[in-house]
Amino acid sequence: MKHIISPLDLSIEELNDLLALATDISKQPERYSSVCKGKKLATLFYEPSTRTRLSFEAAMLNLGGSVLGFSDSASSSVSKGESVADTIRVISCYADICAMRHPKEGAPMVAAQFSRIPVINAGDGGHNHPTQTLTDLLTIKELKGSLSGLTIGLCGDLKFGRTVHSLINAMVRYPDNRFILISPEELKIPDYLRQEVLIANNITFKEVQQLEPVMPELDLLYMTRVQKERFFNEEDYIRLRDSFILDSEKMTHARKDMLVLHPLPRVNEISVEVDNDPRAVYFQQAQYGVYIRMALIMTLLGLEVK
Ligand code: CP
Repeated sequence: MKHIISPLDLSIEELNDLLALATDISKQPERYSSVCKGKKLATLFYEPSTRTRLSFEAAMLNLGGSVLGFSDSASSSVSKGESVADTIRVISCYADICAMRHPKEGAPMVAAQFSRIPVINAGDGGHNHPTQTLTDLLTIKELKGSLSGLTIGLCGDLKFGRTVHSLINAMVRYPDNRFILISPEELKIPDYLRQEVLIANNITFKEVQQLEPVMPELDLLYMTRVQKERFFNEEDYIRLRDSFILDSEKMTHARKDMLVLHPLPRVNEISVEVDNDPRAVYFQQAQYGVYIRMALIMTLLGLEVK
């Protein structure tokens, strides 16, 4: 039995198979409409979510399966003090596979140790968000045609943004990618990522504090929200929240084929006027999130279409 706790839990071969399956699902979804008949997905969300929880649920429903779970830990026995370990032992009696989001880093890994069903990390604190990364990889592969040889700009809250951490971990596995890390000084990537992932793998990267000057270099611009919920004091959040706002004027400095991605939710960091720019693909990205989660559920349950 396999769990997905980190984007590195899949080998490159497994990742490529998953992406190929997701592409096939996107082309002929009806072919997959009953592959999970009789199977149940539990969504255990201890933190708010729109896309991740609902795209997991849509994915299982699209595959002909059923869903159960909670979207607010206050409405579950967690509010009475039940541990993650006990919760997953019980959920293993009710469902075939589980997606868990938790504010504590490592909580889905703990769940996996006590689970009799595959556990998928749907975001743990500021740590990892592997299924967002799978979504990002599918979006890039489909719309850019390759996962290699790209200059990737990551902009915003690179300290707390778990989607950024997972995406860097994933993209360093493909050749000739370089990174431009655009953030205020206080929101730079954690040092372990700089040392153990970028420097240790001889990846070309630079860290800058201005977006406009680097726009012409980018193949991809991955915008992120400043993560209000991870700040210790509101003053710092207010001071930093509007550090970068992508607008139509800034887009004039970008290449004609640069893509703008964002894991969403967006707050102020992308002006709504950018939404109509054909290079803004963040809503398509959300659609790809359903296809890749369908592929992941099928793969972890060992199911194939006949
Ligand atoms: N991208 C993402 O994780 O969105 P949600 O927080 O709405 O799930």
